[in-house]
Amino acid sequence: MGSDRLFDQQEADLLLEIIVNRRDVRGNRFLNKPLGEEEIDKILMAAVNAPSVGFSQPWEFVLIRDEKIKQQIRDSFDQENAKAAGLFGGEKQKEYNALKLEGICEAPLNIAVFYKEKKETVLGQTSMQEVGLYSVVCAIQNMWLMARALNIGMGWVSIIDPEKVKQIVKAPAGNQLVGYFCLGYTTEFLKQPELEILKWEARKNMKELIFYDNY
Ligand SMILES: Cc1cc2nc3c(=O)[nH]c(=O)nc-3n(C[C@H](O)[C@H](O)[C@H](O)COP(=O)(O)O)c2cc1C
Repeated sequence: MGSDRLFDQQEADLLLEIIVNRRDVRGNRFLNKPLGEEEIDKILMAAVNAPSVGFSQPWEFVLIRDEKIKQQIRDSFDQENAKAAGLFGGEKQKEYNALKLEGICEAPLNIAVFYKEKKETVLGQTSMQEVGLYSVVCAIQNMWLMARALNIGMGWVSIIDPEKVKQIVKAPAGNQLVGYFCLGYTTEFLKQPELEILKWEARKNMKELIFYDNY
């Protein structure tokens, strides 16, 4: 049952271009225009075709468009963000407060991504329990790349209380929130990470991150 689909150099270059041009998109850049159903389907198709430990596919997705639900999530962000700002001192705190770190209400679509642990033993998940969560993150990265290929902005919001989000979307008790995302058409995609442009962090030199045979 082999696949005879081989990719050429141009296609490989295109994939790298999508990867390099993917950006985290935040609220000040989302356009107030609903996403097409076909595009949402492609993003979800990308998600469910991600690799997963033992082919367990331990993911569930909640698509949120209801403004009242978004507002409740936004309230959790505001609370958590106020706490977060206190963890940075002096000048850094001022810089932190100037950052826009979510787009919950501005984005036409929010997606909460959950990990649903299997009751049965999962092949491959017997020594490192966390590989179940890693599988969900693989699905998230696929979504992010497909969104970018469709010129749809996507941003990750992690400054929220996962238990509150669970309550708000009525998630089953055993489910774990892995990520909360804002998606929408966007005014622009920045060439570099915004945090790099704002000099919050610099990109690491690849050569310093790669080791051969041992550290
Ligand atoms: C696990 C994870 C959590 C993140 N949480 C947030 C967040 O809460 N708010 C935010 O503005 N960006 C968040 N980001 C986006 C990062 O800031 C962004 O990926 C990084 O600055 C690099 O920029 P780029 O994605 O545009 O290349 C998160 C990214 C990841 C992978």
